[in-house]
Amino acid sequence: MKILGIESSCDDTAAAVVSCNKEILSNVVWSQLKQHADFGGVVPEIAARSHVSVMDTVIESALEQANTSLEEIDLIAVTGGPGLIGGVMVGVMTAKAIATATNIPLISVNHLAGHALTVRLTDEVAYPYLLLLISGGHCQWLAVESPYDYRLLGATLDDALGEAFDKTAKMLGLGYPGGPAVEKLAKEGDAHRFDLPIPLKGQPHCNFSFSGLKTAVRETITSNQPFNEQDKADLCASFQRVAGKAIADRLKRAIELYDSEPRLVVAGGVAANQALRKVIDEQAAQHGFELFVPPVKLCTDNAVMIGWAGYEQYCDQGATSLDFEPVARWAL
Ligand code: KG4
Ligand code: ZN
Repeated sequence: MKILGIESSCDDTAAAVVSCNKEILSNVVWSQLKQHADFGGVVPEIAARSHVSVMDTVIESALEQANTSLEEIDLIAVTGGPGLIGGVMVGVMTAKAIATATNIPLISVNHLAGHALTVRLTDEVAYPYLLLLISGGHCQWLAVESPYDYRLLGATLDDALGEAFDKTAKMLGLGYPGGPAVEKLAKEGDAHRFDLPIPLKGQPHCNFSFSGLKTAVRETITSNQPFNEQDKADLCASFQRVAGKAIADRLKRAIELYDSEPRLVVAGGVAANQALRKVIDEQAAQHGFELFVPPVKLCTDNAVMIGWAGYEQYCDQGATSLDFEPVARWAL
């Protein structure tokens, strides 16, 4: 069985072909980064227009690179939300049009389920598992019990972790997206130079909060003017160290609340960060948990994850009726 995945919920127009045998036959991601660069973040209107202009080419490329024609596709899986609604609409309308013209079954996939299930494509990971989902828009702990069963154990009370990386980068003039820029500069810095607060340390729940850390970053910059290149590197390293400490502290509580098979999965764009991976790796080992993280290329947004999650959900509960609506908000 071959699945065509389509993703357009943020600033990447993506299409991919995956097989039920866990083969990634193609993975095309058209990034809009350059179009948003001058604005320091994603501009929804620009994103939607850009998805419209490249979506058909991206899908054609994905089919071509997979050496597959539409006749050989058995299922179309499209991100039905959550995300920037203009972009989600572009993907959904395109997927519906192809499904209507070809009679290929269509499934609407929650973008977060895509991140959550990727690891079952790249590794042998059985249900249930504890998931730390850390992206630009989401930051939560989930117990993943089946393709459709997610138990929310905790989430951020304010900013997502990726957002905190992006805002830190913006304050330091490092451009968007901030995560990779902060990680790169942190390598040149002293992680103990700035004493930033570890959010919610020791609290009995496993929620996150990053707004206090963001404020501390801003105050550090304003009270240490002029802020030179070494200061910037030291602040990036200090910020990343504290983000790791926060995750380590919350992980203990999440494990207690999860109380099931010792498997930990980390997913979402921030999971691409090697320094945080190292911290999580050590913590997981200390608690006797086996850790699984998708390869960097599949941590950030892509359509492979939508194709795979669509396949798993289709096997579980079948296709989606064609009259579904794209949505901006959709909790797992
Ligand atoms: O999952 P994703 O591609 O899009 C969303 O669904 O949000 O995640 C994007 C987020 C951005 O905030 C970006 O700065 C962050 O992931 N990110 C990173 C790294 N690579 C991407 N954060 C920290 N370190 C990285 N290497
Ligand atoms: Zn994402």
